[in-house]
Amino acid sequence: MAYYVTTPIYYVNAEPHLGHAYTTIAADVLARHMRQRGEDVFFLTGTDEHGEPVTQVAEREGITPRELGDRNYVRFKDLAATLGVTNDFFIRTTDPEHHEVVQRVVQRIHDNGHVYAGTYEGWYCPRCADFKTDSELVEGNKCAIHLIELEREREDNWFFRLSSFQEPLERLYAERPDFVTPQIRFNEALSFVEQGLQDISLSRARLKWGVPVPWDESQVIYVWIDALINYYSALSYAREGEDVTDRFWPADVHLIGKDILKFHAVIWPAMLMAADIEVPRRVGIHGFLLLGEHKMSKSLGNVIDPFQVVELYGADALRYYAMREVRFGQDGEVSPEGFENRYTSDLANEYGNLASRTLAMVSRYRDGVVPDVEPPAALAELFDGLGERVCACLDATEPTGALDEIWQRVRGLNGYVQEQQPWQLAKDPAEAERLDAVLLGVAEGLRVVSLLLWPFVPTAAERLLDALGAEDRSVEAAKFGSGVGGATLGELGQLFPKVEPAAAA
Ligand code: MSP
Repeated sequence: MAYYVTTPIYYVNAEPHLGHAYTTIAADVLARHMRQRGEDVFFLTGTDEHGEPVTQVAEREGITPRELGDRNYVRFKDLAATLGVTNDFFIRTTDPEHHEVVQRVVQRIHDNGHVYAGTYEGWYCPRCADFKTDSELVEGNKCAIHLIELEREREDNWFFRLSSFQEPLERLYAERPDFVTPQIRFNEALSFVEQGLQDISLSRARLKWGVPVPWDESQVIYVWIDALINYYSALSYAREGEDVTDRFWPADVHLIGKDILKFHAVIWPAMLMAADIEVPRRVGIHGFLLLGEHKMSKSLGNVIDPFQVVELYGADALRYYAMREVRFGQDGEVSPEGFENRYTSDLANEYGNLASRTLAMVSRYRDGVVPDVEPPAALAELFDGLGERVCACLDATEPTGALDEIWQRVRGLNGYVQEQQPWQLAKDPAEAERLDAVLLGVAEGLRVVSLLLWPFVPTAAERLLDALGAEDRSVEAAKFGSGVGGATLGELGQLFPKVEPAAAA
């Protein structure tokens, strides 16, 4: 079956930070996991290069918005590669193929009678590229996200009749209780709709950097309308000489941060309905990563640089930390100390050391060959139903929940080794059978957790699976049994080596 997952397309006005890495990592976890389930996956990420957020910074730097985009999109592409992300395509809204589809979709919305000429008057945040109502402002007339003073704008432009989609959207929310996850965001989106929808600008008159309105070339299409269509347009040209829209549309999940809920959970489905295109299956929303009490954001000057972290600790460590530390869907604090803690206690000690100790014991006590015996019942019970639970979590866009499930077994394996004390059993020839079962059980447990951890920590999991001689990488194979029985183990080394504090400073 086809599975299509997307990230937001990121503004090229700033350097990527951990907040951007966060959504991209989550999307990669879903994409990798679905491939392990044998699905035909398409995974899209990219950059948003039009509108004020980009033009303002370009102006400040004395270059054109296109030059800024050309320079900065590479950083986002690099970030994906640095994180070991397996996107199938990287879209830029400056792609001419994208423009064509944007114009086609907007023309269809117009021809279907959902567009009219009007005058906008109200607050506008150039950083959000968003029109704000009075209730969305803080401290007088400041943007609640960027904390900058807003100006009132008045401009003639084309409007999208969002208000006429109130009822269809209410129906969508009534029929599809999982259209938006988690529940709290579903409620937020629904209440936004129920409060009454106002029509929105579909074009900008003053701005020149964007896709021209097909029936009025004096205006450009509002950057959010242009940007949202990326999810749909990419499928028509991402694969050379092939249009895969029919295969992958509607998208299975758009992953986004809660800051852009309104656009994805309200405006986007309305636009699609207006253009007679199917709406996506789900919008999966996560919270903010906070540094101290603020959202991590370049404009607020508080960011963790993902490139630096990966250089010191590797991509797996950052991927694991991001998915584990803050429950997906909620806001939560991140910090260098928190990161080092997770690295040392979870990855290096609980997972890495368990792996190296187990391999060392099989080597010392059984000449490197895993005993081919029945697995111990206690461990079989510990692992019972694990694969299904992990799949259910990821189907519900709960990567943190999936990691909780897996990690409970990593800890269970450590507890089991402590309790069985194989180093004592090895001293007593009468305990040889028990030692066989213990070694097989722990090695098998490591194989199963590594298969399920592979989407999160692909490099480490891959190394351990290779060392265990486990070839089948599917989720189907993540069943606890005698899988590694009889395998000759390979070399492993340290999965998560100690990082010198001097290097980390
Ligand atoms: N260009 C728009 C999105 C268009 S999608 C059709 C945009 N870009 S952005 O560069 O500002 O990126 C926003 C996204 O980056 C958020 O929705 C979220 O996915 C991610 N994050 C940026 N900062 C973040 C945090 N501090 N915490 C978590 N995610 C954050 O909006």
